[in-house]
Amino acid sequence: MDEGPLVDLGRLTRTSATPLYRQLYERLRASILAGHLPPGTRLPSTRALQAELGVGRNTVADAFSQLLAEGYLETRKGSGTYVARTIPDDLVTLRGASERGRSPHRRRPLSERGRVIVAAPSMPDLEWRKRRPFYPGVPAYELLPIDTWRRLMARHWRRPSAGVLGYGAPVGYEPLRHAIAQHLTAVRGVSCDPGQVIVVAGSQQALDLAARVLLDAGDAAWIEDPAFPGARAALSGAGARLVPVRIDDDGIDVAEGERLASDARLAYVSPSHQYPLGKTMSVARRLELLRWAEAHGAWIVEDDYDSEFRYRGRVLPALKGLDEHGWVIYVGTFSKVLFPSLRLGYMVVPDDLVDAFAAARALSDRHPPTAEQAVLADFITDGHFLRHIRRMRLVYAERQAVLLEHVGKRLGGLLEVEADEAGMHVIGRLPQGADDVALSLACAGRGVSAPPLSHYYMGEPAQPGFVLGYTGYDEPAINWGVRMMGHALAP
Ligand SMILES: Cc1ncc(COP(=O)(O)O)c(C=O)c1O
Repeated sequence: MDEGPLVDLGRLTRTSATPLYRQLYERLRASILAGHLPPGTRLPSTRALQAELGVGRNTVADAFSQLLAEGYLETRKGSGTYVARTIPDDLVTLRGASERGRSPHRRRPLSERGRVIVAAPSMPDLEWRKRRPFYPGVPAYELLPIDTWRRLMARHWRRPSAGVLGYGAPVGYEPLRHAIAQHLTAVRGVSCDPGQVIVVAGSQQALDLAARVLLDAGDAAWIEDPAFPGARAALSGAGARLVPVRIDDDGIDVAEGERLASDARLAYVSPSHQYPLGKTMSVARRLELLRWAEAHGAWIVEDDYDSEFRYRGRVLPALKGLDEHGWVIYVGTFSKVLFPSLRLGYMVVPDDLVDAFAAARALSDRHPPTAEQAVLADFITDGHFLRHIRRMRLVYAERQAVLLEHVGKRLGGLLEVEADEAGMHVIGRLPQGADDVALSLACAGRGVSAPPLSHYYMGEPAQPGFVLGYTGYDEPAINWGVRMMGHALAP
């Protein structure tokens, strides 16, 4: 029997608060439970698994001994470690109540598609995801115009119509589609018809729909490197072959993309404010990208996630504004301007794709919640939305300046942060050779979120660093966070 991987265990996450051995234990256990590792399967040796996963020998040995102790694995003298022939009792109780009365035979494993989804690099519940300085992408919740929101909510709930209470359209609530189309035309240079706007459950759903509707398993898809991990997850969850393409000062390096996979079916980009490096894609590069898409019949997914927040410099309209022939799927979200649990975002798609996207959306959750959409439509058309954005721009510019000032004063030589003209986070650069994952964990130990830059890369990062959000934290919180970071970086 060869010692190759029996199931794709994915990459263990060093930044997680969960120890590596525990992660491995959980993945093996889940694979046994899901039937990917049927009873009697021989496992690779600890040495082979150690090399495969790039972890220490103890990590594998500890995971194995836990699984042995719980009865998931058994050893046979001289021939190695096997999945136990009988599953332990607690499994029976775990499956218990909901499965009582079902056939006693072993469950079928997940579908191929299910397995691809599970294996996609997820957005794990890392320690630094908690809301505390400097977890990125967090709006200033305390400054939301909650009274206005409540008043608009009450307006729709006072005597809710059948339209608010009944089933809605998969593409979204008509007045909201109009409000979004008007807003995008006025503010982002995206002149679109409301009929092209699809209201989605945040941009994550837009990325998932785009990947599922436009890609076949095995299709190559360019992804910025570094990139938003949720985009990687959506594309690989759809079975795409990810082609990481480097970012330079002008944005995604189209020439490199063409060298690596000119026949890719899709490119994921964040041209207004590259996530996470913050570069703005130059006009020349935008045109080059559009030319490539046109020449190869490829789609461009434009993630315009935080374009509302530009503090200095010229505002470039969205790439979609240059798209004369309908290659660009434009994606935006209300998570950053308002709040993420609202779960409302939008996509603008070419006319002839609207029905396909509507069908895919309807399959999973029919349509977005109507009352929230109605409130948001009023919030935009009554002018509260633009007013809130204008107000937040001033607050966020100030918060960025405060972060830079405190880092400059306290962390000289340890961390370098450059001002950014836009967005909700800055990059903190660590000295060459520093281990940003270990330092991120040290920050987490001091109560500070400092996601390691290397986590956003598929390839080798140019420099170690942190992605530091500042928008959700006031001056005392920033001051405290920087002090704690100082203790973590120079203990
Ligand atoms: C670049 C980028 N795109 C998309 C999203 C997804 O946001 P949501 O699904 O909440 O709209 C995020 C959230 O962090 C992001 O940073």
